[in-house]
Amino acid sequence: TYVIAEPCIGVKDASCVEVCPVDCIKSDPEAEQYFINPDECIDCGVCAEVCPVEAIYFEDDLPEQWRHYLQKNREYFQKQ
Ligand code: SF4
Ligand code: F3S
Repeated sequence: TYVIAEPCIGVKDASCVEVCPVDCIKSDPEAEQYFINPDECIDCGVCAEVCPVEAIYFEDDLPEQWRHYLQKNREYFQKQ
């Protein structure tokens, strides 16, 4: 899965939501950032290309300091 990390916080540009072919990025006005549903993401990578703040990474490519965002994205959908 692709994962949205810290740079999205407070930015929420939403370009990623518009390009996702399977509509698996949740835009939540209440949340501090947007999240990718790991059970629906097809790893196409298009969202990562369009994010203006480079907040999106393939799970294995997450920078060390943002590794925990993998779990943070997953937990968001478990709470829904
Ligand atoms: Fe959607 Fe593709 Fe990004 Fe996954 S990698 S969230 S399928 S745009
Ligand atoms: Fe956030 Fe970038 Fe999408 S800032 S909402 S991950 S385009």
